[in-house]
Amino acid sequence: MADILYFNGRYTTTDEKVIGVEDRGLQFGDSVYEVVKFLRGTPTLVTPHFERMSQGLAALEIPTPWTAESFDLFCREIVGRASSPDGLLYIQITRGEATRRHGWPEGMTPNVIAYPRKHSFPDAERKRKGISMITLPEQRWRACHLKTTNLLPNVMARKAAERAGAVEALFIDRGEVREGASSSFFAVREGRIITHTADEAILAGVVRDVAISRALEERIRVDERPIREAELYDLDEAFVTSTSLSVMPVSSIDGRRIPARGPITERLQRMFDEREELEAGARD
Ligand code: PDD
Repeated sequence: MADILYFNGRYTTTDEKVIGVEDRGLQFGDSVYEVVKFLRGTPTLVTPHFERMSQGLAALEIPTPWTAESFDLFCREIVGRASSPDGLLYIQITRGEATRRHGWPEGMTPNVIAYPRKHSFPDAERKRKGISMITLPEQRWRACHLKTTNLLPNVMARKAAERAGAVEALFIDRGEVREGASSSFFAVREGRIITHTADEAILAGVVRDVAISRALEERIRVDERPIREAELYDLDEAFVTSTSLSVMPVSSIDGRRIPARGPITERLQRMFDEREELEAGARD
């Protein structure tokens, strides 16, 4: 079904094919994206999404099309025009269109695309049961902190997970756990949370950040360090976080069961959902 589409300052619908064949997002994955969740017509966690997007654009030398304020207004406006009150808003800023060659000409004008899509977020049953994961070798480049559309290793990993009957893939780099193909990964052991440092090896997930803050407020210890692969064999709990899954328990890794949703995962899941409800409610 067609939905509203924003393209370079004008509104149309997703039926219109707006991008040319020499757009560098298409040709090279030369583009930054964000995925913002909206609930009851309200976009959530807009400021951290904007900050991460701006940092990524600056790193790639693509001009940022919004200020923090205009981005907030923009998200509210487009979500207000969406066909569904709940869903995901996809935002993509490509370097723009130019005759294909690797080095881009200076002074390019970015292509800015945004559109909302209805999304079925996990229900209570799924949130209790959690998801299965398989481990795969890290295949990505060394700048995973940038949220670019250069997602082929993530795409291949997710497909391999699905073919193995799992939901998500977990990247392992020389014995160290990094993150999921599209989620941040957390282990829980002896009452402590362990998750990878927010460095260039992972994406600094927006939900990851909220989960860590909530855990610290609850006086749960959080160790930010790479988890060794061997530690995966001895976990009390594990969970992933992402914009589409929120806080989601992990029920198995490579077929090895992890105890059912544990108390820390459940607490953080509840706290995240409550925070989100408040945010959506505040703008009702
Ligand atoms: N993915 N790590 C990777 C590699 C991701 O692609 C994502 C998000 C995350 C979690 O980030 P956040 O909490 O900000 O959603 C971690 C998005 C949702 C996607 O590509 O659809």
